[in-house]
Amino acid sequence: PAAKKFKVGQSYEHVGERVKLSGWIHRLRSNKKVVFVVLRDGTGFIQCVLAGDLAVAQQTVDLTLESSVVLYGTVTKVPEGKSAPGDVELVVDYYEIVGLAPSGEEAFTNKIAEGADPSLLLDQRHLTLRGETISAVMKVRAALLKSIRRVYDEENITEVTPPCMVQTQVEGGSTLFKLDYYGEEAFLTQSSQLYLETCLAALGDVYTIQESFRAEKSHTRRHLSEYTHIEAELCFLSFDELLDHIERLVINSVQYVLEDPVSGPLVKQLNPKFQAPKGPFLRLDYKDAIQWLNDHDVKNEDGEPFKFGDDIAEAAERKMTDTIGVPIFLIRFPVEIKSFYMQRCKDDPRVTESVDVLMPNVGEITGGSMRIKDTEELMEGFKREGIDPKAYYWFVDQRKYGTCPHGGYGIGTERILAWLCDRFTVRDCSLYPRFSGRCKP
Ligand code: 4AD
Ligand code: MG
Repeated sequence: PAAKKFKVGQSYEHVGERVKLSGWIHRLRSNKKVVFVVLRDGTGFIQCVLAGDLAVAQQTVDLTLESSVVLYGTVTKVPEGKSAPGDVELVVDYYEIVGLAPSGEEAFTNKIAEGADPSLLLDQRHLTLRGETISAVMKVRAALLKSIRRVYDEENITEVTPPCMVQTQVEGGSTLFKLDYYGEEAFLTQSSQLYLETCLAALGDVYTIQESFRAEKSHTRRHLSEYTHIEAELCFLSFDELLDHIERLVINSVQYVLEDPVSGPLVKQLNPKFQAPKGPFLRLDYKDAIQWLNDHDVKNEDGEPFKFGDDIAEAAERKMTDTIGVPIFLIRFPVEIKSFYMQRCKDDPRVTESVDVLMPNVGEITGGSMRIKDTEELMEGFKREGIDPKAYYWFVDQRKYGTCPHGGYGIGTERILAWLCDRFTVRDCSLYPRFSGRCKP
């Protein structure tokens, strides 16, 4: 009978039919009589059996791992008790080789030898991507971005695409990547926040999902030089409403990922202990966090007890998230340790309407705040941070021409993914990670 063309993932539903499947040889095992191939095409895996003449023919061509092939055969239910992806296997009656991968020294397995130096493995990222774990994380990543877009859609928030080449900073001059822009100085964007703010009066609530760049010199588990930044800016809302929105976004988008028939099982496989977060998230004041750290004998960066105004660095933050064990909204940071644009709290002007969302095992996945809406106050912020406001005229105009209470946040895609998929480092959550010393492949 004629074979119908399917993707591997669809073929599970076509037991008894003759199908045509194309993909790559993920696993290969043979004896004199039978050849077992696990075929992979990005939508799933299927065990395929070549027997009789086909098996003999295969042995003469010496099929190799990662060769691309087209297989024709009948989808068959595997016997009870035998496990196979989709509970089916393909009984192959004909095949074609599209691209035979090398054997010997150049063989795929030699390129990605297990236990190899992580840096050598990253040189082969274009090949290691084909592995089950990395490709699973990338599938969950796609599902997560789709789910986040779905939540934004449900909340009537409009997607925009601000520029990546800019002449302003958002999160401090020390991590700016400079570039020569036709003889003028320009930077790669650290955050699209300022541009999103300018969209409010035109489009209402807005979001963007695009790359941000940070020249982070130190190597940590959670810093990349380029990362995918999910940012939103919302108008005419209060700080509490902003926190409620972030909470809904995290809970609902994770829920959608878990409900999805592809990404749900992958999260289970990567992170068996993962529990969907439930609201309301713990809301912890910065000053109470300082108290908590001192109560637990955690020291600040100088090795001394924490005092009001200290930065809560990665190690201390991790101690807190891992001990408390649930998502935390850490709120109301002091003015001095936050960016120039943050709104002060009405009841205590030493602190800002700011939030970091902290997750177990990762720490900060999101930073956000209400924004200063008054021009004079904003000018003070620029002055405090030593920023020349001239280049920011367009951002300041937002206050001049119909200011409004507004706020927003940025989520690091690789960080929320590291939490969701239980990865040790954000490098495992990026397609081609960039950090100091690595800009290839
Ligand atoms: O806390 P950050 O620096 O805040 C901002 O950029 C705001 N302007 C965002 C906004 O309000 N629109 O960065 C936001 C998030 C962090 O919480 C973290 O998850 C991620 O971006 N992030 C990084 N991820 C990977 N590598 C880095 N070097 C990162 N820097 C920040
Ligand atoms: Mg931050």
